[in-house]
Amino acid sequence: MVPSETTLDRSGFKLAEGIVHVWEGENLCQQGNPESLYRILDSAEQARADRLRVDQHRAQFVACRAWLRLLLSAYTGVVPDQIKLSYDEFGKPRLAQEFDGLVLVFNVSHTSDRVLIAFGTNSMLGVDIECCREIRNLEGMVDRVCSPAEKVIWKRLPEQRKIDVFFSIWVRKEAIIKAQGTGISLGMSKCVLGGVNLDHPVFLPVSCGEASEWSLLDLGCGSQHKASIATNVPVRSLVHRCLPHTPLADLYL
Ligand SMILES: CC(C)(COP(=O)(O)OP(=O)(O)OC[C@H]1O[C@@H](n2cnc3c(N)ncnc32)[C@H](O)[C@@H]1OP(=O)(O)O)[C@@H](O)C(=O)NCCC(=O)NCCS
Repeated sequence: MVPSETTLDRSGFKLAEGIVHVWEGENLCQQGNPESLYRILDSAEQARADRLRVDQHRAQFVACRAWLRLLLSAYTGVVPDQIKLSYDEFGKPRLAQEFDGLVLVFNVSHTSDRVLIAFGTNSMLGVDIECCREIRNLEGMVDRVCSPAEKVIWKRLPEQRKIDVFFSIWVRKEAIIKAQGTGISLGMSKCVLGGVNLDHPVFLPVSCGEASEWSLLDLGCGSQHKASIATNVPVRSLVHRCLPHTPLADLYL
């Protein structure tokens, strides 16, 4: 699915069970005045930004968290700098409070130039984006990431498709892992995908619940990237939008 351009119109911020919104941003570190955006962050986020010594990394982290807070504000009605985030023991950020009886869930993924921020309700939700690139020991990576049955399918692919398909498998599995929340230690090869295109989970670690209840959806983010979203509930509507290119500071400050 290719995202549609949109402005930040409040009427677009309605979530319900089975509805997932994904916001895609490009080159966020070039948006707005980093010092103004820094003030939207809470003290823990500011301290984390202060520890980032590379200007581009710092600017990207600050802009990404500022956008996350701006979007959470639009969904909840809470002012961006008053949003309370908490972190579980594996570092997954969550909203500390419920809204209108719904648990608003979100997840973030970034590459050097892209950010995806996904929102849903009352579910485990994870998103992952990767830039397709050459991998030195691709076969070795496939051995670590894939189950034996997946490896058989991957090895039969024409050479020119192997990198693309590897990254599709990677983002699907990492989206599941990020939804579940304990991180990569969950074991990529233990999240088993099925079908000729390896596009749905057939077996997952017990902490994920029934594989058949999960939805795994690929997102179109251009030919250089693979991206996927995973949630442990049926998805009846997935909306994929671009963040406006308007400097963030003009929208909020
Ligand atoms: C979560 C994880 C798979 C993300 O990997 P990644 O591909 O490098 O990063 P992505 O860009 O896709 O995602 C990063 C975002 O996911 C979110 N995130 C962080 N920890 C997460 C977790 N455990 N589960 C899901 N999402 C997580 C954050 O929003 C983070 O963005 P931020 O850097 O702006 O805060 C990886 O970092 C991991 O395995 N973390 C667990 C670490 C752990 O076990 N910690 C134990 C305590 S020390």
